[in-house]
Amino acid sequence: MATDGSKIGINTRLAHSGNNPRDYFGFVNPPVVHASTVLYPDAAAMASRSQKYTYGTRGTPTMDALTLAVDALEGSAGTIAVPSGLAAVTVPLLTFVSAGDHLLIVDSVYHPTRNFADTMLRRLGVEIEYYDPRIGAGIAQLIKTNTKVVFTESPGSNTYEIQDIPAIVKAAHAAGAIVMMDNTWATPLFFKPLDHGVDISIHAATKYPAGHSDVLLGTVSANEACWKQLYKGFCTLGCCSGPDDVYQVLRGLRTMGVRLEHHRKSALDIARWLEEQPGVAQVLHPALESHPDHALWKRDFCGSSGIFSIVLKGGGQKQQHAFLDALTIFGLGYSWGGYESLAVPVFLGDRTIAKGSYAGPLIRLQIGLEDVEDLKADIQRGLAAAATAE
Ligand SMILES: Cc1ncc(COP(=O)(O)O)c(C=O)c1O
Repeated sequence: MATDGSKIGINTRLAHSGNNPRDYFGFVNPPVVHASTVLYPDAAAMASRSQKYTYGTRGTPTMDALTLAVDALEGSAGTIAVPSGLAAVTVPLLTFVSAGDHLLIVDSVYHPTRNFADTMLRRLGVEIEYYDPRIGAGIAQLIKTNTKVVFTESPGSNTYEIQDIPAIVKAAHAAGAIVMMDNTWATPLFFKPLDHGVDISIHAATKYPAGHSDVLLGTVSANEACWKQLYKGFCTLGCCSGPDDVYQVLRGLRTMGVRLEHHRKSALDIARWLEEQPGVAQVLHPALESHPDHALWKRDFCGSSGIFSIVLKGGGQKQQHAFLDALTIFGLGYSWGGYESLAVPVFLGDRTIAKGSYAGPLIRLQIGLEDVEDLKADIQRGLAAAATAE
């Protein structure tokens, strides 16, 4: 069936994009091809590399099944699959910036992205500058003649500021820079970066696409103008992923729509309820009317996912730890997008601009697929513990 028509619903697209069962004797799922070597029929074919698959690092039918499915969701010219979400950040950055280039990065970026820029990219001679997530069209003032890339992440990690992506794209493109976006929070179901002018869309497929906290993978999708260079960088770095992980992510993609809808509903229900709890000063969730960027979120996004933060009413690390230690259903662990709920203490000490001013310590909650009433009861245990911690 054709799966790229714009009239096809998202869950139909998720169920049928990527592989064609008829290519493999009608089996519904694609084969998991474990491969380094690919044989050629003769020396001439070897010399000209005139066949679809040439070596395991450059692509396999399993990899294609996933990347074509992601292309159908992103509207991209091509997608690469890399071994982690962090590699989905580092591979395009290494591919598109060089010594002497200026790279603008949003200050509310995922911390390991900042760490990569501040250590490896600086060592390689790239000039790094952080900008306010709420800068919008004002980014034009920061763009220089050597600005090559504007790196966005919206909402921002942990504090969920929404960026004016179309305004940033307009200013960047006017100056000849490209725009990358870490779109892990929204997935292409709730925001399609390329439709808003972004050149390269980045996903930690570890989160919602994989969905079960057992796989690490990243995808990077490019528009027509950037695709050739991205694929070349991917092949140069040899940063390909294992076929079992690629297969697991394609498997996860088939159910991502229904899972995400459950995450969305539960997270929003809990976020609204939390706004009424006496121990909570603020809930940082862009789909809430109280969020300072709610209007921008409403303009550009068509849904919200399952992760947000809360600000406790007063207190410090003692109260934050008391909250976390009292939880019995929420696990204390990094990552998100899996079926199970998680909580982590938020650290904003790396920020240089978007430090914010908060009434108490922050806690990030990943709302899983458990029953909402059980999760509320668990949070209540945390709030009670925080209220009595001394
Ligand atoms: C926004 C964002 N981007 C990228 C990543 C990196 O993904 P991975 O854990 O697969 O390296 C994460 C992980 O938490 C993330 O939150």
